[in-house]
Amino acid sequence: MYLNKKFEINESLKKQIHNKGYLVVQNYFEPNFLRKINSKINRLLVDQNNFLPPRDIKFYKKQTKKLKSPNGTLKKTLDKKILSSGYKKFKYFTNGVSYRDPLLKIRNLKKIVFDEKFIKLMSYLIGGDIKLGPLKMATYFNNKLPKNCINYFHSDHLTADGKKMSKCLKVSISLNTGGKIGGEYMHIAKRKSKLKFNKQYFEKKLMTPELKDCLVIPKLSLGDVVVFDPTNFYHAAAKPKNKRNMLYLEYTSKNNKNVPFPTNIFKTDYKKLSKLQKKLASSFIKS
Ligand SMILES: [Fe+2]
Repeated sequence: MYLNKKFEINESLKKQIHNKGYLVVQNYFEPNFLRKINSKINRLLVDQNNFLPPRDIKFYKKQTKKLKSPNGTLKKTLDKKILSSGYKKFKYFTNGVSYRDPLLKIRNLKKIVFDEKFIKLMSYLIGGDIKLGPLKMATYFNNKLPKNCINYFHSDHLTADGKKMSKCLKVSISLNTGGKIGGEYMHIAKRKSKLKFNKQYFEKKLMTPELKDCLVIPKLSLGDVVVFDPTNFYHAAAKPKNKRNMLYLEYTSKNNKNVPFPTNIFKTDYKKLSKLQKKLASSFIKS
């Protein structure tokens, strides 16, 4: 389902998310604004202090079983020496990096994270008060390493620390410049509970005809936003042909007791938020 910027929040969206597990809002964010964020991320990439230790995928190259699991469960991270040689070199050893404290590093990101229409949409779809879960800002690399983690079809049934995932919705925003950017998000548009299939971390070639029929790869342009249900639907991200910067937001019910990965926000930025926006960031650490 493709919506335009002025979409109405109504029952049809709830049905779409329940039955198909995804929707796309086209031209939602200004491409030029996203380009600015994108170039700021590119600047962060040159200093390893800005991101979490990347996993050594080259080391796990032949351990397919380990690659078919959440990236965070891999213990071996990249060697300091390789890391300090810069991303143009270390990108051949890992598939991507996740940045620390996105809201502290790129203050304008708050315009995306606290978008009021999205807050309204998400509280409507989830039903009741919501909060933001972990905020993920990442760069994925083009290289010849094997796929891992999100490159395989999976559902987010466990959190990073192994707890059962509570109901949530995610938003995927591609920040790359250029025209069409389709292909990074792939989705099986049928609830897992309705499929005669039960696997985790599988490849396209393992799909049954039923799954293949339900495979959706939205054609996306800069400014488009994908909303999806990660727990009840299989999804994957293709390995990029060029370096790809992404932002993932996670919305969950306010009653969700799972302690989220801490997200930091500047006190001054938090104070400027509206009442509605503050609700979303209630568990953020104000620094
Ligand atoms: Fe996922």
